Order: sequence, then structure tokens, then C-alpha cells
Amino acid sequence: NETLEAEASMFSFEAVSAGVDGTHHVAKGYRADILISWGDPVMGDAPEFDANHQTPEAQEKQFGYNNDSIGFLPLPRGSKNPDHGLLVVNHEYTSRKLMFPDHKPKKEKKADYGLRLCQVEMAAHGLSILEIEKNRNGRWQTVRFSPYNRRITPLRSVLDISGPAAGDARMQTKYDPDGFHVIGTLNNCAGSITPWGTFLTAEENFNGYFLGHKKDHPDRLKLKRYGIPGKWFDWGKHDSRFNIDMEPNEPNRFGWIVEVDPYNPNARPVKRTALGRFKHEGAGIVLNADGRVVVYSADDQQGEYLYKFVSYKAYDDHDRRANFSLLDEGTLYVAKLDHIGNLDWLPLVYGHAGLNEENGFNSQADVLIDTRLAADLVGATPLDRPEDVVPNPENNHVYLMLPGVEARANEGRILELIPPQGDHTALQYRWDLLLQTNVKATTHKHRRKTDPKPDKQGLKKDWFVAPDNCAVDGQGRLWVTTDQGEYWGRSGSADGIWAVETQGRKKGAARMFFRVPVGAEMAGPAFTPDDKTMFIAVQHPGSDGAKDYPPFARESTFSDPVTRWPDFNSKQPPRPSVVVVVKKDGGVVGS
Ligand code: FEO
Ligand code: CA
Ligand code: CA
Ligand code: CA
Repeated sequence: NETLEAEASMFSFEAVSAGVDGTHHVAKGYRADILISWGDPVMGDAPEFDANHQTPEAQEKQFGYNNDSIGFLPLPRGSKNPDHGLLVVNHEYTSRKLMFPDHKPKKEKKADYGLRLCQVEMAAHGLSILEIEKNRNGRWQTVRFSPYNRRITPLRSVLDISGPAAGDARMQTKYDPDGFHVIGTLNNCAGSITPWGTFLTAEENFNGYFLGHKKDHPDRLKLKRYGIPGKWFDWGKHDSRFNIDMEPNEPNRFGWIVEVDPYNPNARPVKRTALGRFKHEGAGIVLNADGRVVVYSADDQQGEYLYKFVSYKAYDDHDRRANFSLLDEGTLYVAKLDHIGNLDWLPLVYGHAGLNEENGFNSQADVLIDTRLAADLVGATPLDRPEDVVPNPENNHVYLMLPGVEARANEGRILELIPPQGDHTALQYRWDLLLQTNVKATTHKHRRKTDPKPDKQGLKKDWFVAPDNCAVDGQGRLWVTTDQGEYWGRSGSADGIWAVETQGRKKGAARMFFRVPVGAEMAGPAFTPDDKTMFIAVQHPGSDGAKDYPPFARESTFSDPVTRWPDFNSKQPPRPSVVVVVKKDGGVVGS
């Protein structure tokens, strides 16, 4: 019966086993090489990385921290070249304890030193754009002096703001009295490539970067709905932009989808306000049969919502410039789901469904800046931490990752959203459960302090928990990355990337293809047009959960990290890195 089994599967590799150690593991028959790590040069003239004396000036020319979503764009533009292209990489956030030898400096040098730390952190956020190519030996490498190479950071880069909220009074600040420009993009999580060859990058947990007291703030209830000020970073001590008492409107300028044109190194990235403001996990774009584009995006927090944007105008294959305004005009919808598989899309339009002055909305700009409040009002359905949502152009189904809340991470699910006749502009869909994550592997006590030891007895070989990001490859196959956060001890395994069956008898079955080192989270992935190269991001190696679970069970720091992946150099901390995976025989990844 083995033939039948094989026929039913969309993949044919041997699963990587569950487990946790200091390095990465890939399926047998594959090679996993490091392409670029935190601190490596992006700009040709970047200084050599020195983890012990990192500076903002060096960092803004080097690869940033915590690489997350990746996009591959072939060169030349418009081709399907699988061997040469541009890689766009999000740098979601920074991990101070692992980045700096002295992250809690003594009082006397605090002011200046603290400022420098913040500036390094800012320069390590944002995006990297890199030209990459396969060399004569068939190995991928970065092109050091490429004119495409670029860093976009919240330290210095100027971005444009467009769409209905651009220029609104609530978007204006002291340094930008017109409300059309902003310095930087923050907490860039997932993203996708548009049909016209730009990259959409999602600003997620932007609330965490603000300090201040919202007590006297004119919009304090609105701030509260977004968790502002989140106070995760102390940038606001050194830069008034990040203090809401000094710049009350600055938080309104983050939490958007940003469009970047990697093919034009001089083009300013643009915040597209028509897509709404929330903790955007990602942006999954699809070209609808009628030529309009639809962007799916979820708000990653417990009890938040799922959205889609439908463009007003159609995509033009012959006029690239015309497509640059597609995401400025259209309708934003929020999802309402029932328990029997129906999904309604509710429009968020000023003047409709109570989105008016009576309820605090004076314009479409208000509806977009306060998207969460607008969605509350129209009756959207709260979801279990909705993360990535990605359309599959092969069958026009849309996959939605619901990792579950931390307290019950074993109840993660992947939903399949089904538009009628594949029409992504439709207002009524069906939804179905693609898979429910493996409960058996995670029946350990939920309180990590009281039960740090994973019980290996209950561990199934195909455990699968906390689906976070996903990608659909050129053949319509689904790849899902996991993020258990601090709780990987419950499953007894580090995170990884999983191949998930989406059709046939095995629908919903998952097997691990790649496993990250201890404390890391799996992100990415992206494929070349021939599906023969997979780019993945190993985020924060040596970080999450190390102190709670044997055999590590200690705080992981710069000087004493639980792993020094990928260099294993005793003078260097672990480094988030992009990994290139290819099949040794040159075949399609996963085949
Ligand atoms: Fe950046 Fe929701 O993960
Ligand atoms: Ca995520
Ligand atoms: Ca993530
Ligand atoms: Ca996550």
C-alpha cells in the first residue's frame, strides 16, 4: 500500500525528528547553508562586524537583527530567473540581552551609552534589501557592491504616507507638520510580493515602542485599545518621537502596511493607510480573476480580527507605475464568522453601519486610524490570535494561522477560507478547519515554572503546534512555520518549518522539514520561481524559553548564551540568520 500512500502526498521527504539542541536540522538529502547573519555587510562599505563594540553607524550598513519574513524578486524584473534576484528581509525587533555585552550599564555612563544602545537597536530594525546570486559552484551568495543593496530603518529612513489617512490632522507631528512623511517602519513581521514586483511589509507590535502617560492624552481610550504606550523599549527616553506626551500623534503613524520597491533603490517606501491600522501580522496579496487585487491581513493579538482590502481599480500588466496607486483606493472589510462555516465580510466605510460622528468617526481617516474600534462597532468576530493569512493561487483557498493563546497553545488551528467560485472580492465565503494542532504532544502543565520538564512519553513524532507564518510555493503546496514562544518545552521540540498536505486523503497532515536551534523561532519562508531554493529565517536563536527548560535552564545572555549558532565562535553571541535550503540532487524542495 506504499504506492497509494506516496501518491496521496504532495511531499516526499523524510520528516526531521522532534527535539531541541544548539543547532539546526534539515531533512535528509538537503543542504542548509547560512546566507547572511546579523552584522554581515549589506552596504558594500559596511565595516566588519564587531559584536563587542557595535555602533549605530556600523549597524545601519549591516544586516539587521531578528530576520523575519523574506521575499525573493528575480532579476531582471519581470523574469522568472531562479538563480539571481533580490532578497527583501524584515527585521522585526531586537533582543538586547543577546546583542550587547553590557546591556545594563552603570549609572554614570547611562545617558550617553543608553542613547547609543537605542540607536543601534533602531538601526537593527526595519528591512534589508540584497542582491543575491548563485555562484559557479551553485551556492547562493550576496553581491557585496550591488546598487540595489539597501537598509531601511527607524533611525534615519524617510517614508511616505499615502491613502485616505495621509495628511490628516491626527497624522501630523512637530517634525512632520503636514502628515505625509514618517521616519522608519517598526516591528516588520510578515509580508508578500505584489504582482507588480514590490514587497508589502506589515508593521505589527508597534505599540511596544512608545513611552509616556496616556492620562491626559486626548485619545486615551483609542490608545488603550491598541496597548499604547506598550513600554517594551526605552527609545522614548532618548528620542521624543517615541514619547506620547511629547508627540501625541506619532503612534498613529505606525501599524500600517508598507509597500517597498526593491527594484528602485531610490524609491521611498510608502505606508498604505487604505489597508487599515492594527497589529498587522502580514499581508497576503492575490490578483483576483477580474483584475482587482485583494490583500488579506490579520491583527495578531488574542481576540482580534481578520481583514481584507479590495482595490477599486484593476491591475495593469503593461503599466507598472499605475499599479503603485492600487493600494490607495479600495474597501477594507473585517470578517464575521459563525460556527457552521459561514464567513461574512463587513465593510469599514465612513458613514455606514454606525461609523459616523455619533460614534467618534469624523472621516474615513478616523475609520482607518482607529480600525480596531471601527471593527468592534460593526460586529467583527474575535479570533484566537490570528497570524499569517495567505491565499493559494492554485485553488483560490486562503489559509489562516491561529496559533492559539499561550495558555492553551495546544489548541492551534489552521483554517481554510473558501471564496465562492474563487472570487476574492465576494462578501460571503465558507470556512473549514484544515487542521487542529496535536493536543497529545502538549498535554504538559501550562504553568512553565511548575512543570519545566517535557514529558517525552506523550510526544508523537508528528507533533505540530503554534502555526505562525506560512507560504504557498509555486506548485500550490503549503509550508507553515511555528512559533511556540517560551513554551517549546511543552512539546519537547524546537520550532520548525512544516510541509502541510492540503488535499487528498492526507489533508491536514504535517511533517517537519527544518528545525531551528534552541530558543529560536522559525520565520520566512520564500521560494525561487522554480521552487528549487527555499529561503528561511532563523529568528532570535538562543533566546526564548531557555531559562525554563532543561537541559538549558539558564538565562541566555551575550556572554553566556545557550547556543552560539551559527558561528559557534566563543567571542560572538548567536546571530539571527537567513538560511538557504536546496536539495542536494538539485530537485524541487520537498519533492
Ligand atoms: Fe510577528 Fe505575530 O508574529
Ligand atoms: Ca508571526
Ligand atoms: Ca513570528
Ligand atoms: Ca508569533
